[in-house]
Amino acid sequence: MFKFFARFFRWLFGPKKPLLEYDEKIVSPDGRIECRVRLLNGQIIYAVKKDNKIVLKDSKLLVELRGDAPLGMGLMLVRAVQKNFDETWETVCGETQFIRNHYNETAFYLSESGGKKRLFTLRFRVFDEGVAFRYEIPPQPEFQKLVVENEATEFNVDGNSYAWYIPAYQPDRYEYNYTRASVYELSGSVHTPLTIETPTGFFISVHEAALYNYGSMTLKLDADGALVSDITPLSDGARAYVELPFNTPWRMIMIADTPLELTVNHMMLNLNEPPLKTQDFSWVKPLKFMGIWWAMYVGEWTWAEGPRHGATTEHAKEYVDACVRLGVPGLLIEGWNNGWNGDWLANGPTNDFVHPAEDFDLKAVAEYAREKGVELVGHHETVGYVDNYEKQLEEAYRVYADNGIHYVKPGYAGAYMTIQGRREFHHSQAGVRHYQKALELAAKYQICLDVHEPIKGTGIERTWPNLLTREGARGQEYEGGALFPSHATILPFTRLLSGGMDYTSGIFDVSNNVKRMATTLARQVAYYVTIYSGMQMAADRPKFYEELHPDLFKFVRDVPVSWGFTLPLLGQIGQFYVVARRDRASSDWYIGGVTNEEARRVRVGFDFLEEGAMYEAEIYRDGDDAHYRENQLALVVENRRVSKADYLDVWMAPGGGFAVRLHKL
Ligand code: NOJ
Ligand code: CA
Repeated sequence: MFKFFARFFRWLFGPKKPLLEYDEKIVSPDGRIECRVRLLNGQIIYAVKKDNKIVLKDSKLLVELRGDAPLGMGLMLVRAVQKNFDETWETVCGETQFIRNHYNETAFYLSESGGKKRLFTLRFRVFDEGVAFRYEIPPQPEFQKLVVENEATEFNVDGNSYAWYIPAYQPDRYEYNYTRASVYELSGSVHTPLTIETPTGFFISVHEAALYNYGSMTLKLDADGALVSDITPLSDGARAYVELPFNTPWRMIMIADTPLELTVNHMMLNLNEPPLKTQDFSWVKPLKFMGIWWAMYVGEWTWAEGPRHGATTEHAKEYVDACVRLGVPGLLIEGWNNGWNGDWLANGPTNDFVHPAEDFDLKAVAEYAREKGVELVGHHETVGYVDNYEKQLEEAYRVYADNGIHYVKPGYAGAYMTIQGRREFHHSQAGVRHYQKALELAAKYQICLDVHEPIKGTGIERTWPNLLTREGARGQEYEGGALFPSHATILPFTRLLSGGMDYTSGIFDVSNNVKRMATTLARQVAYYVTIYSGMQMAADRPKFYEELHPDLFKFVRDVPVSWGFTLPLLGQIGQFYVVARRDRASSDWYIGGVTNEEARRVRVGFDFLEEGAMYEAEIYRDGDDAHYRENQLALVVENRRVSKADYLDVWMAPGGGFAVRLHKL
């Protein structure tokens, strides 16, 4: 390691003389986006334009350190190194099979002109889809570790832009409804991805990629009215403790002409590394699963032991049988372990992830599921007590692995995490480190994860594909009063830019008194297409699938989890969203559409279908008088033959939606 850096420093300080001023325009491969990076008065300033129109005004970069001078002032440029990169890679599973990673890069090697003469690099990449950069700090004789007091990275958008945001540092983590407001009106810190409509007509989203060993970036307004990074603090106020060499996560600005174009931005995944050559992930498989789950939400069963305990051996076997009958390959079982009795939210310090409850025979259930060919999804509700969880983590995974269980849904309910006896934010460096530790250990036991109350997505599933999905937004568990039809028309343009989400779709009992859904019945199946998730839940109880709506369930059974290609068709943030996706394993296409509180008729052209081919279109749509409040169940299922030349006019009820399966004949 030391030799490597010695050689690196010799190369860096070659014969060239450092510059005190510098100005470079890095242009995207298609020539439309320009990122201007300047060295001015010892500081680096960047600005972004597209088609010569402003996206970001002059924005400053600075990292404040505890007990040391800030990094980013009094700088000289030692070298600027340009490179072009173009490669196409294949995803293990996801929204699209092949992704092109194409950018122009400049690495600015910088040195302080005075003081300790510390060195660091700013690496910028400009894609056709936006701009990204990160700070890279090598170890130096007098600079081996650092404490980040704050990272003041500006993203200077026009204050009159509109943003769709959720607030940061809140007890329910990312599980909030979105608000639309002018950027200058933002008070307090907000989470990323932060999607913004600029007065110049672009739709941009500020986010980060490859978040490892660092506090997660939130955004707030600084004194000059610019958006600036606010890295989530640890309990002692520091944002991160790092040892050098260290690269910060990538700071990125996705830039699109339309909201729809934003939804197929691949920068985040491209800024992550492929898996290490030594890691084999051939065992990772996307999964559709039911669960001993919604019955608890509607009060039929309980997580706790007792007369209505959900996770009994008997219920589990019944649900396994239902999976077989319905053709659903997986089954989640919540409430199987010791720790649910009494006030489960208070049981975090003593939860037991190894021993099953008395009326649940893990071995027998696992054997039964194996015989029937059903994959079990295990469950670890930590309530955020990481200290207690980490003590048992390896054994807990081993118990599952020994029983042939390859999927786990961990959960971190609770306003804080308890880590090394301290209260930490889920999205702090301490939280990020825990999630990563759990993910890497899961990989060792060939376990795939569906993380609830997770750290937000930053594309690390490219490197760790066993991270199949996460929650990390308000999902259907909030139905029954706290979810509104517009939510699912905002998610595709905001939260879902950070990767798949376990929205727990497919609740057919939409008019349940305890948990009344603010959706029509048809809309519940649209979600399988509008919301990507590498683990997709059929969240209701089997009787609603088998007895009440078997015709509608056919769509849930048929719809793939992983896709060959994604083609967004129609959409406006907060109003509606229609997307078509091609199956990865066949030539079939699926379409999903959702609307907000307003009814809407949309025309969907089929010109993406294969030339000359005929398709059987199975259409699942709202009945003519459907409504998410008064008439949720009005549903029409109809079939027709279509080809590329055809189109479909479809009506969506208030709070409604539709789904189509296009099966190639
Ligand atoms: C919150 C999760 O989002 C939900 O899916 C789970 O059932 C509960 N916590 C209990 O673990
Ligand atoms: Ca949750």
